[in-house]
Amino acid sequence: MSVAENSHLVEVHCHILEGIDDGAKSKEESIALLLAERDQGVERIVFTPHFYAHRERSVNSFLKKRQKAFDEIKDESPIKNMHLAAEVAIESEISELPDIEKLAIEGTNLILLELPYRPFENWMAEEIYNISIKFGLEVILAHPHRYCDTYTDDQMDKVLSLCSYWQINNEAFGNWKESRFVKKLMKRDVSKVLFATDAHRITFRKPNWDLLKKKCKPEIIEESMRTIESHFKAK
Ligand SMILES: [Fe+2]
Repeated sequence: MSVAENSHLVEVHCHILEGIDDGAKSKEESIALLLAERDQGVERIVFTPHFYAHRERSVNSFLKKRQKAFDEIKDESPIKNMHLAAEVAIESEISELPDIEKLAIEGTNLILLELPYRPFENWMAEEIYNISIKFGLEVILAHPHRYCDTYTDDQMDKVLSLCSYWQINNEAFGNWKESRFVKKLMKRDVSKVLFATDAHRITFRKPNWDLLKKKCKPEIIEESMRTIESHFKAK
């Protein structure tokens, strides 16, 4: 058995909480997704429902919704190390939104940010910078490989350099172009790369750690897991 097969995986990006975004639609589906994560080796999981500021009344009302969804599954979850967080979409002036820092990963100084799916504009980089400086947070950038077609090298470089970590969806390894981009990121600084599933549904974008284990060297997966785990142990 390889190192990776033995490794304790940490999931930092998923949409498993029920009824809060476009992820799991029922408690049964949440539990089925958690079982799939557990069976593939996940021992710690961070729940990251989408947070779109323009769709929410406030951060606090989102937090209440999130807590309710979490309460539904927490006692039955097969994974016991659970943390609440969000995948925060970068919007104009989001760094000014009251309580935005409460969306960081519980127990850490990490926040998962997602860029909008549109051509790059400077304000996006400014919002990343402002959130990290204003609240002393380290930014995990969600799936940068999804933007490699629309951003110039300079734009991508600007964004990457503002973030502490680059989160890769395992599915990137199933796409030639994205996989090439991910390999470049690993060459640039493998210590900044974090892997996750971005799992949504049991039928669509389900947990896919098997793909990562097939395509990526065990020692790289191990390093990524050690890196994220160190943020929880530090607290
Ligand atoms: Fe996501």
